[in-house]
Amino acid sequence: MKLNERYDKLGIGYSARRKPDPRIHRAISAALSGARSVLNVGAGTGSYESTHVPTLAVEPSFRMIEQRGNKDNVVQASAESLPFRDGVVDSVLAVLTLHHWNDIDRGLKECARTSRGAVTLLTWDPESPGFWLTQEYFPEILELDRKIFPSIEQLRQCLGPIEVKPVEIPADCTDGFLGAYWHRPEAYLSESVRSGMSSFARVGDLDGGLQQLRRDMVTGVWQRAHRKLQSLETCDLGYRLVRTKAH
Ligand SMILES: C[S@@+](CC[C@H](N)C(=O)[O-])C[C@H]1O[C@@H](n2cnc3c(N)ncnc32)[C@H](O)[C@@H]1O
Repeated sequence: MKLNERYDKLGIGYSARRKPDPRIHRAISAALSGARSVLNVGAGTGSYESTHVPTLAVEPSFRMIEQRGNKDNVVQASAESLPFRDGVVDSVLAVLTLHHWNDIDRGLKECARTSRGAVTLLTWDPESPGFWLTQEYFPEILELDRKIFPSIEQLRQCLGPIEVKPVEIPADCTDGFLGAYWHRPEAYLSESVRSGMSSFARVGDLDGGLQQLRRDMVTGVWQRAHRKLQSLETCDLGYRLVRTKAH
């Protein structure tokens, strides 16, 4: 696959479906606090970039770049080969992108090389159990995600000592990634919602899972099985904020 091929297709309409969530944004900003310059790797359309801190962005896909508000700070490149000198910024950030990289170890080493301080990642822990959507309706997504997301141990081996914090996903999360609609199951029946989630594009036939979910919602099976979820405001689905300890 060429540098940017996958997201040149997948990224159509991304900025409309994947609006940065303010609570997740706060958690990321807190992890970056003190940094006077940031490099956002796999930056996409610029979600979670600060307007106060000078930020450089790296993104391979022109489709994502064309949807950015700020195009002046972006370089078309890949994590595996960052076109910057060592220690170019105070801090490097990578949000929900590692699982798309061709060589995660090499990309992480590049992140560490270009940061004078910490590397901060938002990712999903493949040792987490998943959630009702992937456990009950699309186990093939869970199986695939467990292969493509790096383990916490892999991150530790590449980056050295790290802090790992759960990022609970709000029930009304505005960023339409896979877990965003855990409280709004009907959303997964919408093709437009699913088209903002790369996991659905990676697996083949979705009809069986979708039909089952539709049936379970109409008959009340889903509601009965997931009564406990309905009163929750946030849920831990396995998303993790990972930050290297200062070096
Ligand atoms: C799910 S999007 C996340 C974008 C953004 N970080 C966000 O939070 O909205 C994943 C991004 O990773 C980018 N990507 C894919 N392969 C990459 C690579 N090898 N190096 C850097 N970014 C890559 C894709 O083009 C896409 O923009």
